[in-house]
Amino acid sequence: MCGIFGYVSKNKTRAIPVILDGLKRLEYRGYDSSGIAAVVSGRILCKKKSGRIHEVEKILNNTWDSQAAIGHTRWATHGAPTDRNAHPHFDCSKKIYLVHNGIIENFRELKDRLLKRGHKFQSDTDTEVVAHLVEDFAKNEGVSFEEAVRLALKSIVGTYAFVFIHADHPGKIIVARNSSPLLVGFTDNEKYVASDASAVLPYTRKVVYLQDGEFAILTHNDFRIATLDRKAVLRNEERIEWSEDMVRKNNFPHFMLKEIFEEPEAVSNAIRGRLVLKDGLAKLGGLELVQNDLRKINRLILTACGTAYLAALVGEYMLEEYSGIPVETEYASELRYKKHNLDLKTALLAVSQSGETADTLGALKEIKRKGLLTLGVVNSIGSSIARETKAGVYNHAGPEIGVASTKAFVSQVAVMALLTLFLGRQRDMSLNTGRKISDELTKIPDKIKSILAGAKQIKKIADKYYKYENFLYLGRKYNYPVALEGALKLKEISYIHAEGYGAGEMKHGPIAMIDKDFPSVVIAPSDGMYGKVVNNIQEIKARGGKVIVVATKGNKEIAKIADDVIYIPETIEMLTPMLSVVPLHLFAYYVGVLRGNDVDKPRNLAKSVTVE
Ligand code: F6R
Repeated sequence: MCGIFGYVSKNKTRAIPVILDGLKRLEYRGYDSSGIAAVVSGRILCKKKSGRIHEVEKILNNTWDSQAAIGHTRWATHGAPTDRNAHPHFDCSKKIYLVHNGIIENFRELKDRLLKRGHKFQSDTDTEVVAHLVEDFAKNEGVSFEEAVRLALKSIVGTYAFVFIHADHPGKIIVARNSSPLLVGFTDNEKYVASDASAVLPYTRKVVYLQDGEFAILTHNDFRIATLDRKAVLRNEERIEWSEDMVRKNNFPHFMLKEIFEEPEAVSNAIRGRLVLKDGLAKLGGLELVQNDLRKINRLILTACGTAYLAALVGEYMLEEYSGIPVETEYASELRYKKHNLDLKTALLAVSQSGETADTLGALKEIKRKGLLTLGVVNSIGSSIARETKAGVYNHAGPEIGVASTKAFVSQVAVMALLTLFLGRQRDMSLNTGRKISDELTKIPDKIKSILAGAKQIKKIADKYYKYENFLYLGRKYNYPVALEGALKLKEISYIHAEGYGAGEMKHGPIAMIDKDFPSVVIAPSDGMYGKVVNNIQEIKARGGKVIVVATKGNKEIAKIADDVIYIPETIEMLTPMLSVVPLHLFAYYVGVLRGNDVDKPRNLAKSVTVE
């Protein structure tokens, strides 16, 4: 949510192309407006515009010679997505420019104070106060640029990742972080700052992650990190393991389609080296440290947002059925404000692709403060949630660039299955059950591939249905969260109204909506719930509704009732979500494309929601 990028180098010719490239890579984090500012011959030049990055590119002068520059791509919070609210923002003297990702909670109070002191504001944003605050400290306290930034940061309440430049300091940028992601990438003669690793990947693999309450001063050949209390921080560099190819579309028209086609690999990567088939065990290195603590827990709370929440909900069904631990799943946005009557035998597990979602991080910190064991299932290595939890499991799904989460969902569900094995086999799960689950898990990637091989048929179904304005998604037990995920994906990408329900709930209300213009997508694999779900299909048909059914290969009967059938291979009930979700992801993708939408950057959304 909001992408920020900074660059400082010895070479004056690279700043603008590097910032532009970085912003394009970060655009999935927000695309309401964008802007670039650079120190050029003792003053700062800035171009910013509402809309996508190409709008700013059109008005940018690529011949600016600059050592230090900053860029921003915005997801609007305070202030409409207009040109004047676009970042970078600046002070009265137009010497201090900054970009920001986060929210300044005490901005009204600060703004009132600064207005009384004669500062003139150009935008409606919370961010702009910080530029004036730095100016005010520098002028009235007579302190250096660095010290003025430090004092300003100490006055702020809220979340932020900042990059500052100053007209009088052409070879320097200052960065700071509190609860919004920020990393510094570096080579000997260049320093990069970005909201996430994918943006610096073409330039360097060496990075340092800033932590909350830290700021850093960067020049082309040096960087110093310190806390806001001026304590120097020594941090080891880390290496990004992702390759350039992983953040390219390659031959796919959209990242979303590429990522759906990476679903088999996402599952393979999640389970690789983690199953001991002959013993029916999962070996999770990240949980070794807390193995004994986990034996003692008597309650597990799963928390997440959006699609990650739905993967956690699948996990709840798995864990309750096989691990013997009572499990509940809560939206992180609710959990952080709810009283839970927790005891120290409860553990919390946060699930997040980005590892930066503000609500999930907030809930995690709140529960951690109460002294409970905290665990994570996270895709982004080194992210805030990964660092904040005591132990956890990485998904290894690779970077997910499409704003709508797809491959992360299947990989999160695969990790949930691993956790079920891990915790279940610590308790009552038999060797045979452990073997059966682990053996079936290894077959999932090929089974997903066989569904993807039928993508053309799903495209044909999308052709038939894309003009409808309402959809109902139904599933039961393990496939109830999948119904919710199918509906969520369709809403996000196609802007069609879609509701997901537990199939059993249909008769308690949603059935009232059914008519010939309100089709349903029903997940009806041949499992323990099949008979009940078929009854629901009959009830819809009896009311003139059209039905697309996701059914198990070999079920010929269903074709007699359904309008359209998409077949998935057979597997054990708890693993079906990894298969049944694949056609729903494809269906949402094709419908979105047919409706002419930008499926990789759907309106009003942004990847990684780092504000509350
Ligand atoms: C839906 C989607 C969002 C995210 C949610 C959590 O397609 O992408 O609902 O799943 O914002 O994000 P992470 O997993 O990064 O915490």
